[in-house]
Amino acid sequence: MKITIVGGTGYVGLNTAVGLASKGHLVFCVGRTREKVERISRGIPIIYEDRLDEMLKSVLKKEKFIPTTDLTGSVQKSDVIFICVGTPSRQDGSIDLTQVEETAKKIGKALIGRKEYCVVTVKSTVIPGTTEKLVIPTLERFSKKMAGKNFGVCMNPEFLREGHAVKDFLFPKDQGIVVGEFDRKSGDVLYEIYKDFDAKILRTDLRAAEMIKYARNSYLAKDVSFANEISNICQEIGVDYLDVKRGMEMDSRIGTGRFLSAGVGFGGSCFPKDVKALVAKAKEIGTKPKMLKATLEVNDAQPSKLIELTKQVVGQFRGKKIGVLGLAFKPGTDDLREAPAIKVINGFLLEGAEVFAYDPKALDNARKIFGNKIVYVSNAEQAITSADACVIVTEWPEFADPRLYSKMRSKIIIDGRRVLDPELLPAGFTYHAIGFPRSIET
Ligand code: UDX
Repeated sequence: MKITIVGGTGYVGLNTAVGLASKGHLVFCVGRTREKVERISRGIPIIYEDRLDEMLKSVLKKEKFIPTTDLTGSVQKSDVIFICVGTPSRQDGSIDLTQVEETAKKIGKALIGRKEYCVVTVKSTVIPGTTEKLVIPTLERFSKKMAGKNFGVCMNPEFLREGHAVKDFLFPKDQGIVVGEFDRKSGDVLYEIYKDFDAKILRTDLRAAEMIKYARNSYLAKDVSFANEISNICQEIGVDYLDVKRGMEMDSRIGTGRFLSAGVGFGGSCFPKDVKALVAKAKEIGTKPKMLKATLEVNDAQPSKLIELTKQVVGQFRGKKIGVLGLAFKPGTDDLREAPAIKVINGFLLEGAEVFAYDPKALDNARKIFGNKIVYVSNAEQAITSADACVIVTEWPEFADPRLYSKMRSKIIIDGRRVLDPELLPAGFTYHAIGFPRSIET
């Protein structure tokens, strides 16, 4: 098929565009700025994602992938048009649909001269009702055409995880594929695109597809906050949360709770934003989103648990040097959006600590946030060797290696992600952790 991706230089857009081109479709990857489109044409993704750069180069070479700023021309040549633009949060946490509306207007105008049927598909995360109440009326108004008659409409939420986006797009078995359709004809076109992917396809209505995205992310975020709440209780009653987690996972109704790892809380561009948007929507329609609000409250308070624990260990921060390992909101990405590390480091700085920070991928993005308030180092040892304490904030696999800590002067480790097994540490260390009731002297 010929496919247009609007918002093609962004996270969802680029991974979707490259993924579909690698499946043999001819993809017009529409970006807003010439600069970004030019960079992608040279095979350099705007975002860091494992394997994305090599795949981009391969689809460019096969001429299956056309980066462009020409939205109108692309839409007029395409069978399916995906809307993958950003839906950021407003101050009050509600969703900002400006980019979605602007894009629907532009696509509508581009459809004016078009005779053949095509399908416009929303892939951006949008609050339930958006496709029916905003996108379709806007498309119809600006195209002077009718949904269902001249063009079809679908809502196809993405479930890509940062750090695994390419794999999640190409092999969506674990997550499945959701196709919300305006009518059967619209859904059939999208089904054609996904039928050869080895995954279950759920066909449903537009609003349900929109809600599935929010329900999934809120469910997983709720699990993380539940784990953190239980872990905080464990800390106070002298129980190791990891023992409790193991006990919970034995119950097949819970299973290997992949989202039950306690620590400094969830971050990223999705969980916080999506739960906040759903809370705002729930309030708007007069329901009380108690669990969703609690999920955010527990999460907002979690970074201060790590700050407090560090203070208990090193005393007041003024004049202390703290080595922070991990800045990204999770391993495998360079992303610091809503990263717990921001609150943790600001907490240290506020009370006069000196912070030396290391992250395998996210230092450039950290510089945009902290400027010269902290010291950036190029490896973990430099951050911790002469520090009064080492604080682990992101569970990059390299931080699980006990040898990493051998040169530390203070030999004090505070683990905000339970990434390190204290039993493996050589003699003379003091290990503290979130959800761990005591310290271990090795
Ligand atoms: C998430 C969803 O997983 C994905 O399907 C959706 O499309 C986008 O949002 P992502 O934000 O990349 O993906 O991160 P994810 O791996 O889900 O982790 C989210 C946050 O929860 C991270 O900050 C992570 O550190 C935290 N987390 C996750 C925990 O603290 N404990 C856990 O057990 C699992």
